[in-house]
Amino acid sequence: MQIVSFKNYEQLSGYMADFIADSIKNKPDLVLCMASGSTPALTCDLLVQKLKERQVDYSKFTFLGLDEWVGLPPFNTGSCHYFFHKKIFEPLQLSSSQFFLFNALADDLKRECSKMDKVIADKGGIDIMVVGIGMNGHIGFNEPGTSFAALSHVAELDEITKSVGQKYFDEPVELGKGITIGFGQLMNTKKVFLMANGSKKAEVIKKTIEGPVTESFPASIMQNHPHSFIVIDEEAASVLSKN
Ligand code: F6R
Repeated sequence: MQIVSFKNYEQLSGYMADFIADSIKNKPDLVLCMASGSTPALTCDLLVQKLKERQVDYSKFTFLGLDEWVGLPPFNTGSCHYFFHKKIFEPLQLSSSQFFLFNALADDLKRECSKMDKVIADKGGIDIMVVGIGMNGHIGFNEPGTSFAALSHVAELDEITKSVGQKYFDEPVELGKGITIGFGQLMNTKKVFLMANGSKKAEVIKKTIEGPVTESFPASIMQNHPHSFIVIDEEAASVLSKN
């Protein structure tokens, strides 16, 4: 696990966007999996900008959405669908065959999980995964207690996830379950980047890096991955022992 620190959010977002743009340039059929949310928002904007400026051919890469709130329609502005359509798919005019998101309204959510697992297997695995971290240490909707071997699954959301998650919505929403790509797939991903910024993430970043590896603190799995990167700003790094 490598720690990559930056002064601020703008710099860490620039680094991440550069890395992804260069990776697509070098491997046009790259498979990228990303979380939505506040942390990767600027990375998405900069990625679109850099791909266009550098005239990178992005017509062959595949985009996978890490997760989705179960029961939310894709037009809900707090959904992961909405986020990726507005930030990535529409600005880049990606073909619908290039991106795969969970349908959180499906009657058969297990089938949605199997579909995602099959896409990942058929593509030969994920090249780059870019994730955030929740205030309970979750990654995607891999909540505390999730097996490190899990593939895509439906999760009962933790109370912290349900309350913190309200920030994405214009009015209070009842959140119960999430659907997510699992840690079995994260462990098989070639390179995994966990991004975090701001002092509110300092404690969870300390536990991720310095705490025990345990399923009760999901992000600790990063310590087990052979090519994992913790991409943080000064505030998120502020309580690390070796800071
Ligand atoms: C969202 C996701 C979540 C977030 C995490 C941090 O698609 O996968 O696990 O990454 O809750 O959210 P932010 O970045 O909003 O602090």
